[in-house]
Amino acid sequence: MVEVENVIQQLCDAEAFGYSQQEGHGFSSAAEEASWIDEIRTSVGMNDGQTCIDVGAGTGILTHLLAGLIAPSGRVVAQDLSGESLAINKSALSSSMATLVEFIQGDAHDESLFLPRFAQSVDFITARQSVVLFRDPVRVFKLWRRLLKPCGKVVILDALWTRASWSGDWEALVDALPLSCIQTLGTIPYLLKQAGLSVIENRYLARVNQVLGDEGISCPRFIVVAERTPD
Ligand SMILES: C[S@@+](CC[C@H](N)C(=O)[O-])C[C@H]1O[C@@H](n2cnc3c(N)ncnc32)[C@H](O)[C@@H]1O
Repeated sequence: MVEVENVIQQLCDAEAFGYSQQEGHGFSSAAEEASWIDEIRTSVGMNDGQTCIDVGAGTGILTHLLAGLIAPSGRVVAQDLSGESLAINKSALSSSMATLVEFIQGDAHDESLFLPRFAQSVDFITARQSVVLFRDPVRVFKLWRRLLKPCGKVVILDALWTRASWSGDWEALVDALPLSCIQTLGTIPYLLKQAGLSVIENRYLARVNQVLGDEGISCPRFIVVAERTPD
């Protein structure tokens, strides 16, 4: 693990407890939560019995929603740098969901976390608001391609953050992270294609952005879905 990941891990460990109450991270209202669920269901089409790795799962905002989609016989692997965040993620799971979710702590750039165990075995890889923290996104996307089944999908949910979105201790990371404040929906699809994935959806999350109001205009949320086409 290199310096950037050490800094991110320390910041996420320190902020894990209040994370879901922070603006832009947790859901600010039931209407926002409902709009995310609605958009994810529309695009993702995840079903009972499927396997999903939630990369940068944090305190579980997406993980718990995914567990509901793959229940009762699927599996979600929640992976994150931050052990403190994963502890909260785990403790917040209901007992019926707990058996469906497994936790792996470590760096998404580290292939030994995932291989050989998950080689070509995963239906979905999800990442909500975590790819913007990757030091080398193409390296991670190439690794994801090796984990997906043929026709398996990557689902990236994120935002067009601005430099001003990175405040306090986070500000120092902006220039070390290539996706920290991208300003176009073109960037992530381009990088996914460089990693050998086919982009099948790339759009703003209109319902989420509408509920977010001014925040949805200044930092619009978006979804990118890419598929591993059979070799
Ligand atoms: C903004 S939070 C998002 C958490 C969660 N996905 C959500 O939707 O609330 C970003 C998460 O990505 C994790 N993260 C950042 N870089 C990572 C890396 N290289 N490997 C694994 N996790 C990472 C952080 O520890 C943090 O928990």
